[in-house]
Amino acid sequence: MKSLIITSALPYANGEIHLGHIASTYLPADIFTRYWRHIGREVYHLCATDDFGTPILINAEKESITPQQYVKTWRDCDLKDFRSLDISFDYFSQTSSEKNIQLTQEIFNKLCSNGHIYEKDVIQFFCEFDNKFLPDRYVMGRCPFCFSENQYSDLCENCGRVPDKILEPRCRICGRVPVKKTSKHYFFRLSTFSRQLKDWLTTNHNLQSDVRSYVLKWIDDGLVDWDITRDLSWGVPIPRKEATGQVFYGWFDNHICYISSFLSFLEESGNNNGKEIWNSSEIFHFIGKDIVYHHYLFLPAIRMGIGYEYKLPDYIPTRGHLMLSNRKISKSRGWYIGLRDFLQLFPSDYVRFYLARVTPYSQTDINFDWDVFIERINNELIANIGNFIHRTLSFIKTAFEGIVPEASAYDDIDIAIVNRISGISNIVGTAISNNEIEKAMREILEFSTALNRYFQKKEPWQDRQTSPNTLYISANAVQSLSILLEPFIPISAERIWDQLNLTDNVHNQEWSRASRLDMSAHHKIGEIQPLFEKIEKRKLNLDKWKVD
Ligand code: MF3
Ligand code: ZN
Repeated sequence: MKSLIITSALPYANGEIHLGHIASTYLPADIFTRYWRHIGREVYHLCATDDFGTPILINAEKESITPQQYVKTWRDCDLKDFRSLDISFDYFSQTSSEKNIQLTQEIFNKLCSNGHIYEKDVIQFFCEFDNKFLPDRYVMGRCPFCFSENQYSDLCENCGRVPDKILEPRCRICGRVPVKKTSKHYFFRLSTFSRQLKDWLTTNHNLQSDVRSYVLKWIDDGLVDWDITRDLSWGVPIPRKEATGQVFYGWFDNHICYISSFLSFLEESGNNNGKEIWNSSEIFHFIGKDIVYHHYLFLPAIRMGIGYEYKLPDYIPTRGHLMLSNRKISKSRGWYIGLRDFLQLFPSDYVRFYLARVTPYSQTDINFDWDVFIERINNELIANIGNFIHRTLSFIKTAFEGIVPEASAYDDIDIAIVNRISGISNIVGTAISNNEIEKAMREILEFSTALNRYFQKKEPWQDRQTSPNTLYISANAVQSLSILLEPFIPISAERIWDQLNLTDNVHNQEWSRASRLDMSAHHKIGEIQPLFEKIEKRKLNLDKWKVD
């Protein structure tokens, strides 16, 4: 079976990770990765910090530190945050790594030899007051496509396009109107790839159709060649004598880091066949919908431009934005939930459960609402799943001295639930492998509802005769739940496994075991404890996120 290379969009080393990033990208990628590990596929989950770009330089300048220092601080912070949410990367690199710089320059040289790069004098904004060229985010103005105001010159956040000629420009540092100066830049002939990109988009049926249709429309509207040079000191140096003092645009090198980090990861473990393995793997780039343009056009065109030396992605799972109380998240206005703040209030599995539960495989925006969050945790995670597990284990403790009882002939109700268990690993597994984590979570909840009903109907507290069957089957169903839940809520799943007193860890278990009743009678379960604690809204201070 092919290996899987799974990448999560690279966070800018420029600010804290918030729930929006988690919902659209890191959590779906992590659930997917963890699932395939259970199946026993070779999986590589890769990420890195995105270190270059003007905003990072601007912020480092503001704090009077070097961009290297600035980037290191955020990188450490991101790593800690991802760890605290149990995002299981196999490798976490950075775009400013030596390997990425070298591969970026190599790819540029190949694009040049293949005739996909040309030089052109460009008129650049220059601020005479600050004595600086003003690339990208240094300039704000009106988007020439949708005419919305206050957009950066490198990305319109309103229409998602890259404005090539921003209207009414202003210097971001001092607010003055910049002048224009010439500077020699390198251009990537994106427009010549229109045909090839169109073919790829229309023949690759793994791409989401809603995304595909508007990317095709962008191509039909006409692609513009792409200026990949910046007059800055912070970036991958352009490997040309005449380009001293110039670097590549961050969006030229950042996605190359998907490849370079994979190669580094393998090389560090003594494997020099990275390229071959890349090309024989199935490749997934998980992203949020704000970076569709870059992943559906720039990225494939560059890989095409070097003659498909590194294969194109098979899937680009693309998800919508997270809204907070139905309003667009805005970091600058403080309207967002930082992961760190969130984890101060709740266990990581609560966030993971909730976001998995509400995040569809589509570009539809998701809403985060505190009341819905609290309700889902209390009623679904705790009153449904937690309740079944806890009542089963405590019953075994009190009525059977902690020993799983021996079953005798099943009645019809037993048979029905055993059938349910036999089918569940496939149902949930299929949903996850189709990237439908929300559906998978719903299936687990329905399964747990059925288990609660089964327990209720059998009334083991009434009937001494049939109670061994009920508890034998229920104990095995708890084992199933532990496996099925591991990709979603890994910490709790391990705790369930511990309480069952099973050997090894749940994350090492075969997925199909979730459908086997192989916990034998006479097995002694471990110490039990309630898994979750109900959220009491009145004890929380959510003022920071109050809608006024
Ligand atoms: N740092 C970018 C963002 O947050 C994403 C880069 S993903 C990459 O929008 F692959 F292109 F690197
Ligand atoms: Zn200025």
